[in-house]
Amino acid sequence: PAKRLSDYRAFPFELEMVRLDFALDPKATRVRAQIAIRPLRAAAALELDGEQLVLRRIAIDGRSLTRDEYSLSDTGLVIGAAALPAQPFTLETEVEIAPEENTALDGLYMSNGMYCTQCEAEGFRKITYYPDRPDVMAPFHVTVTGDAPVLLSNGNPVVQETGRAEWVDPWPKPAYLFALVAGDLVAHSGQFTTRSGREVALNIWVRPGDEDRCAFALGALQRAMAWDEQVYGREYDLDVFNIVAVDDFNMGAMENKGLNIFNSKWVLASPETATDADFERIEGIIAHEYFHNWTGNRITCRDWFQLCLKEGLTVFRDQCFTADMRLGPVKRIEDVNTLRARQFREDRGPLAHPPRPDHYREINNFYTATVYEKGAEIVRMLHTLVGEQGYRAALDLYFERHDGQACTIEDWLKVFEDSSGRDLRQFKRWYTDAGTPRVTVAQSYKDGTYTLEFRQETAPTPGQPQKPLRHIPITVGLLSPEGHDLIETTTLEMTLARQSFAFEGFETCPVPSILRGFSAPVVLDYAEGSAPDPAFLLAHDSDPFNRWEAGRRLSLANAVAMAQGAAAPDARYLEAMGALLADESADPAFRALCLHLPSEDQIAQSLHERGMTPDPDAIHTAHEAMITALAQAHEPLLAGLYDAMAVPGDYRPDPEPAGKRALRLAALAFLSRLDGGARARALFESADNMTESLAALAQCIGAGVGAGPVDTFRARWSGDRLVMDKWFTTQLSASAPEQALARVEALVEDPLFDWKNPNRFRALMSGFSGNHAGFHRADGEGYRFYADWLWKLDALNPQVAARMSTAFETWARYDAGRQAHVRSQLERIMGEDGLSRDLSEMTARMLG
Ligand code: ARG
Ligand code: ZN
Repeated sequence: PAKRLSDYRAFPFELEMVRLDFALDPKATRVRAQIAIRPLRAAAALELDGEQLVLRRIAIDGRSLTRDEYSLSDTGLVIGAAALPAQPFTLETEVEIAPEENTALDGLYMSNGMYCTQCEAEGFRKITYYPDRPDVMAPFHVTVTGDAPVLLSNGNPVVQETGRAEWVDPWPKPAYLFALVAGDLVAHSGQFTTRSGREVALNIWVRPGDEDRCAFALGALQRAMAWDEQVYGREYDLDVFNIVAVDDFNMGAMENKGLNIFNSKWVLASPETATDADFERIEGIIAHEYFHNWTGNRITCRDWFQLCLKEGLTVFRDQCFTADMRLGPVKRIEDVNTLRARQFREDRGPLAHPPRPDHYREINNFYTATVYEKGAEIVRMLHTLVGEQGYRAALDLYFERHDGQACTIEDWLKVFEDSSGRDLRQFKRWYTDAGTPRVTVAQSYKDGTYTLEFRQETAPTPGQPQKPLRHIPITVGLLSPEGHDLIETTTLEMTLARQSFAFEGFETCPVPSILRGFSAPVVLDYAEGSAPDPAFLLAHDSDPFNRWEAGRRLSLANAVAMAQGAAAPDARYLEAMGALLADESADPAFRALCLHLPSEDQIAQSLHERGMTPDPDAIHTAHEAMITALAQAHEPLLAGLYDAMAVPGDYRPDPEPAGKRALRLAALAFLSRLDGGARARALFESADNMTESLAALAQCIGAGVGAGPVDTFRARWSGDRLVMDKWFTTQLSASAPEQALARVEALVEDPLFDWKNPNRFRALMSGFSGNHAGFHRADGEGYRFYADWLWKLDALNPQVAARMSTAFETWARYDAGRQAHVRSQLERIMGEDGLSRDLSEMTARMLG
């Protein structure tokens, strides 16, 4: 049965203090809980969540409860009102759990002999009986005993002895922020002094041997702490901040109070093992989890329907942080690319849901691009609507009004309404409604007046047939025929179905630059005859996002035409790209982004948006032909860039050298079509960093000279889990579609394929599903292979299986034959016994 937002009821008790005592053992960990409880309403029963727990003792104020005073089920424990004192009391329980048997990696589990926890969203109930809901907040005092050398939990350490540690977290928190780590760990340590003078000890805890890969993460943490003080006025509030890297982790990272736990992939970095993109992501994720301390922990969510309250806001914060640390415009383009590739894709298919859903069966299925990335876009739109100062005023009010509380989207919007005086009722639709609005613009020019007329419409999504109008901020500029800005960039606010905006005093018709900075997450279309020349904007637009967007429009239009049979890209496109490549004034990182063609999945999406049925094989052929045509058209220019963008000296992960490498490697991808992989082979031999090694490996494979490098790479890195993940992925993403299935079938036999490790499983299976034409083989064998593995993983780790099932979410785009193949796989999964709630919900939604 689904849980519903409308069913929310406040918890009738307050938790004043939680004492937990862990005696660790892989097979039988004993957890003793003493919870000081104050009843808020008379005669309420006490409902506690609990799963997979063996109850050893239950008592109130020292008196053991009799069997008729409480009821036990698979999902929890209810103590009848009759057994509860009317005054504050202490509930005491003792349970036993087996972390070693926990393969779902949710709750307390083991990774390489180390104990660790993941409690968001509902993992704490696998640790002890507790009201496992985010609106129940309490201070924690945790005692851990065990033979591991390092014993960690949330807050500040108060006792640290051999085999025993005590931690006190004074800040009331919901159970999902609880964490415990115990194991043989070493720290890479540092320090941060907050602006009010608190000395904070910082530690990055890793397995012995990994200490030399922590320096970057530590620096990123220090930068994030300083940034949150400067930009948001937020200071850290404990004496220690610990980060632990774990090899077996379902997601990216987790913001547990004072004890962040990370997938080791997003902590460990050295030039030899991490790419430029990894360094940037690590910095962003470290910041993201740190920023949660205020947006998530100090102010948390009332219930899980409000997840985007903390995630959308925190993603927006980490995006701005990265934009400040690196190249802002480049970061914005990267973010929009991800949004379109993942969120727009989700929004067009059977899994579309609002950023704030109103029902779910399994909340872990809602840690989605819509909640995170679209959630961030909504905060960005609020920022645009009220301006930088208005945003800061709203956030100050948010922290002042809601510190220590568990809040809702309504609370969040209210601080913007109260601080800005605006009415945000229509704007709220962004949170409650699914689907990507389509905005169509028509221009007209008469007697010096230039008019833009916009129309908006949003297609129905599952469960939401009617789509009320949205409040859409549309940031625009107007250019002269010479390419100069004629007006200051302004934001138009669209609230109606059709709406015109007039600009006066022009001698000639200006050229519009619409949706600058991608000011709203919409699909923008031009009415007949209203589209500006993309080549002109690619050359002249002062807004870097729209400049890139113009190039993207051109390449998509060409890809779409070629996927439908056009023999070659048009000459004007090739010419425009050549001009951009040669434009020395444009940042190398920006030029690299312009060179990246839309992915085959994005081309398929684009065809689907235009009402056509994508043919994966034709798309692949078109994509390949475009690369070759661009390479042939600009070989000397590309070869010149390949040489000029070489970065001499020691590797540094900074934005400037990283941008040069990005342009150089983008050029390499084209040149490898012409030189038989000669440059890629040479680079593979000489590279001293993972960014170049990996790109060279991919190009060698693409050029058909990959066999040697694939073996060399494996021999060199077989002892390194994170690097081997890249080896698995790259072989599939770079493989020819007709070979992808055979390759993945061979790779699952590789002794290094450990399907129980989420990173390794994802590396291989996402590598395969990311090979668009390989996965979407017409004979359906790609689907069958993938479904077999999803089903197999589901028995072990439902969360990861359910998440990876989204490879099928686009199935309705394709032809009847492919649709029938996907449907039969989804139905097969649906029919299996013992299917998890996670995967069954996903499958049912995809089947519609
Ligand atoms: N709150 C974490 C983050 O975004 C994500 C943890 C989600 N984990 C899960 N099992 N659903 O930073
Ligand atoms: Zn988060």
